Amino acid sequence: MKKRPIIIDTDPGIDDAIAIAIALKAKELDVRLFTTVVGNVSLDKVTNNLLKLLTFWNVDIPVAMGASEPLIEKLVDASNVHGESGMDGYDFPSPNKSNLLKEHAVEAMRKTIMESKEKITIVPIGPLTNIALLLKTYPEVKNKIEEIVLMGGSAGRGNRGVMSEFNIATDPEAAQIVFSSGLKIVMAGLDVGWKALVYPHDSVLIKDMGKTGEMIYSLLQKYRGRGLQNGLKMYDSTAIAYLLEPEMYEVKETYVEVELNGKLTRGTTVVDLQNYLKKEPNVKVLTDINEEMFKNWLLNALKKCD
Ligand code: BDR
Ligand code: CA
Repeated sequence: MKKRPIIIDTDPGIDDAIAIAIALKAKELDVRLFTTVVGNVSLDKVTNNLLKLLTFWNVDIPVAMGASEPLIEKLVDASNVHGESGMDGYDFPSPNKSNLLKEHAVEAMRKTIMESKEKITIVPIGPLTNIALLLKTYPEVKNKIEEIVLMGGSAGRGNRGVMSEFNIATDPEAAQIVFSSGLKIVMAGLDVGWKALVYPHDSVLIKDMGKTGEMIYSLLQKYRGRGLQNGLKMYDSTAIAYLLEPEMYEVKETYVEVELNGKLTRGTTVVDLQNYLKKEPNVKVLTDINEEMFKNWLLNALKKCD
């Protein structure tokens, strides 16, 4: 089978960890590079978390550190959701740093993209700072990017502000650079994330799925201040699910722009579903998800992780 080459840009993050577990085991995907970005917690912490995960699975894929702060916005992290370390709840062995590249994420992405025979899909599951820097520094990479499948934004309400989602609101300028880049973009936002839920009875099934299942079960106990009872949102896995099983989604091609000036709405993705702005669509927005298909997909995918 021809595997789809991807780069994952991430800020682990408990839901990032679950998405990464699934991506690494998917036979349809070839993860060529990981890049880290400040978001859920500081750049040092998210990089350390990613290295912990890769060490846990004994995976040898290069990692490059990217932006340590958003372009303009001041960072408000999500340690209230993911814990002080950004990935609280499991006692990982100390991370092996041998896959950590000396190059900055932007350089590593450029190299990976330009040296690849096939076009690369970029999968950002954190703020878009690194991707914006890449596109502005090396615009030539655009010809070799298949598409960007990102978790972020919302066609409705927000989770960081009234209307804004965390990944976009953390770096609104970066997000607008990406959305206006002319590249093919798929947006897995809160509209689907809020329906991609794991409940206590699911977590018990996950616990029995071997070493990875046990680790994820422990992380879930700490995610969102122990909010498991109400269903935990598997946001970042919704981007991976689109790559692997797009049939579970309803998709609408729409014009999307990031609000950069709003008094109360800065960092909101303005998703013009009714075409008020009369602009050409620039984003495939995932507007709905088949919840049952997602749950089956998630549990089956995690079963494959050891
Ligand atoms: C996004 O914010 C982060 O806290 C999660 O990891 C996810 O990428 C959801 O809004
Ligand atoms: Ca994330």
